[in-house]
Amino acid sequence: MSRIEIPLDAPTYVAGHRGLVGSALVRRLKREGFVNVLTIDRQEVDLRDPTAVEAWFHVHRPQYVYLAAGTVGGILANSTRPAEFIYDNIMIHANVVKASYKFHVKKLLYLGSSCIYPRNCPQPIKEEYLLTGPLEWTNEPYAIAKISGIKMCQAFRKQYGCNFFSAMPTNLYGENDNFDLKSSHVLPALIRKFHEAKMSGIKSVAIWGTGSPRREFLNVDDLADACVFLMKHYEGDEHVNVGTGEDLTIAELADLVRQIVYPDAKIEFDTSKPDGTPRKLLDVSRLHALGWRHQVELQNGIQRTYQWFQTRVQLRVAAS
Ligand SMILES: NC(=O)c1ccc[n+]([C@@H]2O[C@H](COP(=O)([O-])OP(=O)(O)OC[C@H]3O[C@@H](n4cnc5c(N)ncnc54)[C@H](OP(=O)(O)O)[C@@H]3O)[C@@H](O)[C@H]2O)c1
Repeated sequence: MSRIEIPLDAPTYVAGHRGLVGSALVRRLKREGFVNVLTIDRQEVDLRDPTAVEAWFHVHRPQYVYLAAGTVGGILANSTRPAEFIYDNIMIHANVVKASYKFHVKKLLYLGSSCIYPRNCPQPIKEEYLLTGPLEWTNEPYAIAKISGIKMCQAFRKQYGCNFFSAMPTNLYGENDNFDLKSSHVLPALIRKFHEAKMSGIKSVAIWGTGSPRREFLNVDDLADACVFLMKHYEGDEHVNVGTGEDLTIAELADLVRQIVYPDAKIEFDTSKPDGTPRKLLDVSRLHALGWRHQVELQNGIQRTYQWFQTRVQLRVAAS
C-alpha cells in the first residue's frame, strides 16, 4: 500500500481546533511529533469571511489542511437553526477549500458526516449511495451543505488537480464533546442526563423517541487516527466512510450509559419526540481494505468520556 511521507515539520492547519474533532486531531498530530500544527481562533479569523481566510493563508502557508470546523449539532439544533447550519457550513468549506487551492496546499481532508446519505438507503451504507434518494428531513440543510463540501473537493481536484478529499465519520463522541442539551448529539446528551439525574437523586431519565433507531458510534480519538492515516495512505477522489461497522439501538445505548453513569436509574421513552433516520450504519470496507480499523470499543469509550466529563464538571465547580 502506498504511503505518503509527511515531514514532521510540515505546516499543518487544523481548522476547528477547539471542537470535538479538531482537538482530537491536534492531540493525535502532536503525539506523533508534528511540530508545526497551525490553529487560529474564530475570534481572530471567522472562517465564513473569505477575506480573513485568504489573509491568514497568505501569512501562514499551510501545506496540509484538516477541515474540521463547522456548525454542528443534534436533531434539536438542526431543526431550530437550519439557516445557520446551511449557510455557515457552505461558507466555511468554500473559503477554506478556495484558499487551499490558491495557496498551493499539498493535501486537504474535509470532514463530512454520515447524514449526507439518503434517509432510506440500504444498510450498511456504501460510499456510492450518496445522492441516490431523499435525505432525512430533520437535518436536510446541514446534509446539503456537507454534500456540497464533498463535491467542492472533487471539483477542485478535477479542474485544478488539487489533492483534496473527504472523510465521512459516523456519530462521534469523546473528550471535548458538546454536553449542552440544546445542541448536543445523543451520546453526550445521555451522559449528561444520567449524570444530572444521579446528582439530584431522580430515578427516571427521559429519552427522546422510541429508542428503536439503530446508530453507530466512533470514539473521536479513533477518528483522528483514521484521518491522519488517510492523509498518509489515501490518494483517491471518492470520499471514505469512517466508522466501526457495528451499531446498536438507542435503547441499548441508553442502557449502556445507564450502567456506567447511574445504574439505579430507569429509562422512559418520550415517544412524542422524533426518532430521525431508522438506521445509520456505515459500510467501512473501503477503509478496512486500506488497512485501518477502530481500536476503542464503545463501553470503554463511554467510560473514558464520562471520566472526562466528571473532571470538567469538578473543574467548573472549583472555579466558581
Ligand atoms: N460530532 C459528530 O458526531 C460528527 C460526526 C460526523 C461528522 N462530524 C464533522 O466533523 C466536523 C467537526 O465537528 P465537531 O463535532 O468537532 O464540531 P464542534 O465540536 O462543534 O467544533 C466545531 C469547531 O469549528 C469551529 N467553528 C465553527 N464555526 C466557525 C467559524 N465561523 N469560524 C471559525 N471556526 C469555526 C468551532 O470554533 P469555536 O470553538 O470557537 O466554537 C469549533 O472549534 C464537522 O464538519 C462535522 O460535520 C462530526
